[in-house]
Amino acid sequence: MYQRALTKNTLFYGDNLDILRQYVAAESIDLIYLDPPFNSNRNYNVLYKEESGSESTSQIKAFEDTWHWNRETEEQYRALVARGAKLGTLLEALVSVNGRNQMTAYLVMMAIRLVELHRVLKPTGSLYLHCDPTASHYLKMILDCLFGAEHYQNELVWCYETGGRAKSNFPRKHDIIFWFGKTKDCKFYYDAVALQRDPSTMHEPILTDEDDRPYQRNVKNGKEYRYYLDKGVLPNDWWIDLQALNPSAKERLGYPTQKPLTLLERILQASSNPGDIVLDPFCGCGTTIHAAQKLGRIWVGIDITPLATTLIKSRLYSAFKLEAKKDYDLLGEPVTLADAQHLALQDRYQFQWWALGLLPAYPYGGQGDSKQGKKGSDKGIDGIMTFRDSGEAEKRIIVQVKSGKVSSRDIRDLSGTIEREKNAVLGVFITLEPPSRNMELEILEIGPWRSTVWQKDYPKIQILTIEQLLNGAKVQFPGTDTTLKQAQREEPNLGEQKALL
Ligand SMILES: C[S@@+](CC[C@H](N)C(=O)[O-])C[C@H]1O[C@@H](n2cnc3c(N)ncnc32)[C@H](O)[C@@H]1O
Repeated sequence: MYQRALTKNTLFYGDNLDILRQYVAAESIDLIYLDPPFNSNRNYNVLYKEESGSESTSQIKAFEDTWHWNRETEEQYRALVARGAKLGTLLEALVSVNGRNQMTAYLVMMAIRLVELHRVLKPTGSLYLHCDPTASHYLKMILDCLFGAEHYQNELVWCYETGGRAKSNFPRKHDIIFWFGKTKDCKFYYDAVALQRDPSTMHEPILTDEDDRPYQRNVKNGKEYRYYLDKGVLPNDWWIDLQALNPSAKERLGYPTQKPLTLLERILQASSNPGDIVLDPFCGCGTTIHAAQKLGRIWVGIDITPLATTLIKSRLYSAFKLEAKKDYDLLGEPVTLADAQHLALQDRYQFQWWALGLLPAYPYGGQGDSKQGKKGSDKGIDGIMTFRDSGEAEKRIIVQVKSGKVSSRDIRDLSGTIEREKNAVLGVFITLEPPSRNMELEILEIGPWRSTVWQKDYPKIQILTIEQLLNGAKVQFPGTDTTLKQAQREEPNLGEQKALL
């Protein structure tokens, strides 16, 4: 593959630095929104729903929001300093003031990616960087160096009420979104984001002109200014009208840092037009992609966590009936057995999460938490699927993933886990290696599970090899799959964008 202008909706799995360098051509993107980890020094846990509605037992670390100065940071830092220019000088100054610590490691991680993001932006393009006050002051300096302070447009303050409330200081309830244009020609679509005013809140009388257009007048220094009401007014640079997603919000998909669709819709409408190309290099569960699809923009999303890409695929299907590879490109995920073997060797947790996504199943327990350094509280469970074959409680399917040697003992263990777990009726054994004859005999001995409602037998334990899954094999169960929360169905709105200001 080579750098090129992406003209089709594309979802990438991988590190955005590599992907930007490998695939994305200079000056090919109209709008970038990025919502990177904030250096808020806490681990984000993806909370998945349990059928009981409780979330606490199924936590998976989606990404570690803590940065350390390591050998890679040092190399990237030196490369940035060697580039010279203002950015190199700024980073040297920040490191000399702060030292080589988590904050400066975070800033190096961001700076090297912002260089690439600046490169791929069209001269008329805009970048919106979503962050919080932990590092916003430093990030703005980096953006000033890269984009030029004269191309700074706004510091948008997004206010919300959700989350816990501090007692030792004023509750921190806002994020910062910096908007920079690549040049002075960056776009702003006034009419698309202007809000209609509520006449009951207006104190000045409403007049009409010769064409019957309502307006209010203001006289300054003897000169009359007219504010036409049908044009609406722009929201200020502090946004209090866009609610954050509370834990029970319908829109929530189980990704902890999920942003509301309304926020992304406002940004996309402000600085892009239908048909424009929108990039989100830290796309999480795909809010930008969803907004872009809804508003008729072409989208490019990148995320390093297979959990994120699994959720996005499910989101695009439930909201728009879009299927990976058919309706959009999906790049970077293993597509052959050799790719899968490579991923398993590189990182067996990422392999496990990716393999679960093929079903899809949601990850279970503390696996992936390398800090805990243990298999976790999973008791032989890597993932869970749920389904409903009757009006009763959801039933569970226990999933085990193995990238190494397998034997009939694994099958017996899985059978024991199914017996032990409440509401579990079936088991799926995913293996990279082919199963042995003895494993298949063991399954025959265990026998089937019968759905009394559907009057049908299903193999109680089903072995699926990675190769079979890559060829489209599915788990057999009756009724409806309830594993992932479905996004609400959307009708794409390809309407004309309003005037450019
Ligand atoms: C704050 S979340 C984004 C949430 C997103 N705005 C949403 O609404 O769902 C940040 C995301 O960046 C991803 N990420 C972190 N480092 C990355 C990297 N180097 N390349 C690509 N994605 C990365 C994480 O996996 C995580 O999903």
